[in-house]
Amino acid sequence: MSAAVHLDPALPFDALRARLHAGALALLSPAPGTRALCAWARELIEAAFAPLDPLTAQHHLPVERFVEVCAPLKPRFIHHPHTRALLRAALAERGLDLEATYLDVPRLRMVTSGGYLTAGVGYAHHPHRDTWYSAPMAQLNWWLPLWEMDEASAVAFHSHHWDRPVANDSGEFDYYEWNAVGRAEAARHVTSDTRKQPRPTAPALLEPSLRPVVPPAGVVLFSGAHLHSTVPNTTGRTRFSIDFRTVDLRDLLEGRGAPNVDSAPRGTSLRDFRRACDDAPMPPEVVARFDTGGDRTGALVYRPDAA
Ligand SMILES: [Fe+2]
Repeated sequence: MSAAVHLDPALPFDALRARLHAGALALLSPAPGTRALCAWARELIEAAFAPLDPLTAQHHLPVERFVEVCAPLKPRFIHHPHTRALLRAALAERGLDLEATYLDVPRLRMVTSGGYLTAGVGYAHHPHRDTWYSAPMAQLNWWLPLWEMDEASAVAFHSHHWDRPVANDSGEFDYYEWNAVGRAEAARHVTSDTRKQPRPTAPALLEPSLRPVVPPAGVVLFSGAHLHSTVPNTTGRTRFSIDFRTVDLRDLLEGRGAPNVDSAPRGTSLRDFRRACDDAPMPPEVVARFDTGGDRTGALVYRPDAA
């Protein structure tokens, strides 16, 4: 496909959403709201690693100790009421309608350099679509680096496969089972990661890939249906980033979103999303419309504090 990349689009967000559902990427310059969000995340990270510099701490700590520092840091950031308030402000600043926008919990990620930690809390994502993991086709992903990054610590987009299927085993993925088992185990995986995740089952055309580089508190905004992966970090410094996902209720009601070329998981992640203005849950009748089976004895909602 030919992929459009919008830099600081002047479009109203409704129009931008339609472009993103058609495979475009948007790169947003740092703005006061995302700067405040990133400053807050950096503050928590720096406090956790003190007196070490978080970017180089991996060279001074045994990997088990690094995991011990990171594991509590993630839920602390995710659940802090200040985080939610900052996120809401960052979305309002971009012109999103907070009454129609639903938001999941933000994630804090660390990708170490040189293969120091590649599993569990530091998992470097293999090529995947979020929609293989039961995300709705209307999902938008927001990714923000917390410190300077470059193409060797980026997210790679394999845009050849935007509209071309990749053979994959998402048909064996059950979101409720994953919530109940796979996620809670993340911190236990230090040297290898054996959690069952949907993957390509045949070679995909991964190159050329697009690797957007944005400044700290800048945003890479993209459809969760893009095939994307974590670039193996070779910078010598740990890459810290935050990401979160939004979905617009009007897209769900009107059936808008990215085309589904090869995603076949069971269950839906829609229950994880809460209305941006007041944290109201996703209406159950909307969830029901997207709920494709899944093991009801598992966990319907992702509860990161269980991790
Ligand atoms: Fe992803």
